[in-house]
Amino acid sequence: MVKIVLMALIAFGVQLHAADQKFNLKFNMLKLNAEMGSARESMIRNDRAEALKVFKRLKTEVHDLLSNKEKIESMLPSEKKQKSSIALESAKLIAENIELIEDAYGENTRDLTPRKRQIKAQRAYTSIELACFHCHNLVRDEL
Ligand code: HEC
Repeated sequence: MVKIVLMALIAFGVQLHAADQKFNLKFNMLKLNAEMGSARESMIRNDRAEALKVFKRLKTEVHDLLSNKEKIESMLPSEKKQKSSIALESAKLIAENIELIEDAYGENTRDLTPRKRQIKAQRAYTSIELACFHCHNLVRDEL
């Protein structure tokens, strides 16, 4: 009897843990989504200082959420775990493009006109969106 109760408790615990992970993933993704919205808004307003602040936060969040293979594997549906390297590639692309933006807006590109810096950063922003789509297609599309 004790054994059955114990096993039920463990099963319940595992379920809770899975639900918790799913909740956390959704919460963290919604946060990424909100950051991308703020970033776009500050770029449209030409507010480089604000954009840099947002991308700094986004960089940490992407690093925490998407920077390792085990973590990404745990996010993917079981039948797609073997595709984790594609997902990891999207995560890497996001990080690289954030660096491009920091570079475009940073001190080293003072020789570029403000407009060129803006265009360089906006292209990198668009590449980040493509990387987000890429991973979601992988998660949601039929195999
Ligand atoms: C490594 C793959 C991967 C990358 C890269 C990624 N996501 Fe996600 N995203 C997921 C997974 C997995 C889910 C959960 C899917 C589900 O539960 O159906 C998710 C869910 C979401 C959701 C919640 C959707 C819903 O159903 O409510 C949003 C919004 C989101 N992601 C935005 C983003 C944005 C913005 C980026 C880029 C900055 C991004 N994601 C990058 C894998 C990824």
